[in-house]
Order: sequence, then C-alpha cells, then structure tokens
Amino acid sequence: MTASTASKRIVFTGGSGKAGRHVIPYLLSRGHTVLNLDLIPLPHPSVYTLKTDLTDAGQVFNALTSNFHIADYENPRHSDTVPVGPIDAVIHFAAYARNMLVPDNECFKGNVLSTYNVIEAACKLGVKKVIIASSETTYGVCFAQGESDYHSFPLEEDYDCGNTFMTSVEEDLVR
Ligand SMILES: NC(=O)c1ccc[n+]([C@@H]2O[C@H](COP(=O)([O-])OP(=O)(O)OC[C@H]3O[C@@H](n4cnc5c(N)ncnc54)[C@H](O)[C@@H]3O)[C@@H](O)[C@H]2O)c1
Repeated sequence: MTASTASKRIVFTGGSGKAGRHVIPYLLSRGHTVLNLDLIPLPHPSVYTLKTDLTDAGQVFNALTSNFHIADYENPRHSDTVPVGPIDAVIHFAAYARNMLVPDNECFKGNVLSTYNVIEAACKLGVKKVIIASSETTYGVCFAQGESDYHSFPLEEDYDCGNTFMTSVEEDLVR
C-alpha cells in the first residue's frame, strides 16, 4: 500500500443518514476504519456509533479523540490489524439537510454550529484532512420561499450566486 491508499482512521459525522450510510460501506471496502458520530445509530456490524451532539463543542473535541470501538476499552491492543494513534481525517455529513425538519432558526443554529465545532476541533487537534458535504441548497434555491430557479444549469464552480439570502441580508443592513 502506498501512503495515499493506506488504511486510514476516519471519523464520519452524520453517518446514519441517507448519504452517510452509502459512503461508510465504501470507505470500509477500501480498508479504512470508521467511527460514526450521530444522534442515532448506524446499524452496521463493523461501525460503532458514538452518540454525539455536534452542536456541543466539548462533545466534538472529546469524540475526535475517542476510541473507535468498545473493544478498545477492554483491550487497547485487541487486534494488530486495527491501527492506533490520531485520526487521519474527519468527514462531516451531519446536518439538517432540508428546511421544515425543525424551525428555521434551529436549522441555522444546528448546521452552522456543528460545522464550526467540527472544523475547529479538527484543526486544533491537528487532523490533516477535513471533508465537508456541501449541497445545491447553498445556491439559495432549495431553501427559498416561493418561485426560485437556477439561472443556468448544470451548476459549475463559477456559478453566479446572484441575489442569495446573504446578499439580501447585506442589502437590508445597508439600507
Ligand atoms: N442525500 C442527498 O442526496 C444530498 C444531496 C446534496 C447534499 N447533501 C448533503 O449531505 C449531507 C448529508 O445529507 P443526508 O441526506 O444524508 O441527510 P440526513 O438528514 O439523511 O442525515 C443527516 C444525519 O445527521 C445527523 N445529525 C443532524 N444533526 C446532528 C447533530 N447536531 N449531531 C449529530 N448528528 C446530527 C442526523 O441524525 C442524520 O443521521 C448534508 O449536509 C446534505 O446537505 C445530501
């Protein structure tokens, strides 16, 4: 195995959700070890879910330095095949993936705070790689009220976000 393909220890957030439950088996098939941080368990025999509220910074820092399985407590060297040491990467999928799941202010708070806590803890703990799920909602269409559509498709890197929610907020502020 080369350094880039070697088995990695990965903390995955939101792995019990729609997208995560497909990505995690793929990571396992590539030889990586995964710890899932979520509010609800992922029913997978090889993946432990540590129930973690990512809006709580203390829980996030602690979880990023956690054992990956209960067996690690009973016998820290329970298997020569399980690598030990700091984690190699964090993959952040946990979110309210659409509106109307919770009130809008809770959606904003949950998504922004969780992402901030994950990035801050990963950086301060020296994690070399952080991967964050994005979404077409960042272009302001899916979360918009009323008629709203993309002005060009497919979406590309240089897509002009135009009059997004944040632009409207800025305009309101300077009025
Ligand atoms: N599924 C898709 O087709 C799709 C498309 C584009 C982007 N995305 C993005 O991918 C990410 C995952 O989407 P999904 O469809 O799997 O969402 P999902 O709602 O199915 O799963 C999200 C998971 O995050 C967990 N979660 C939410 N808040 C949490 C918190 N405070 N602490 C811990 N866990 C928490 C939930 O319990 C859930 O298991 C989101 O950021 C979403 O915007 C998904």
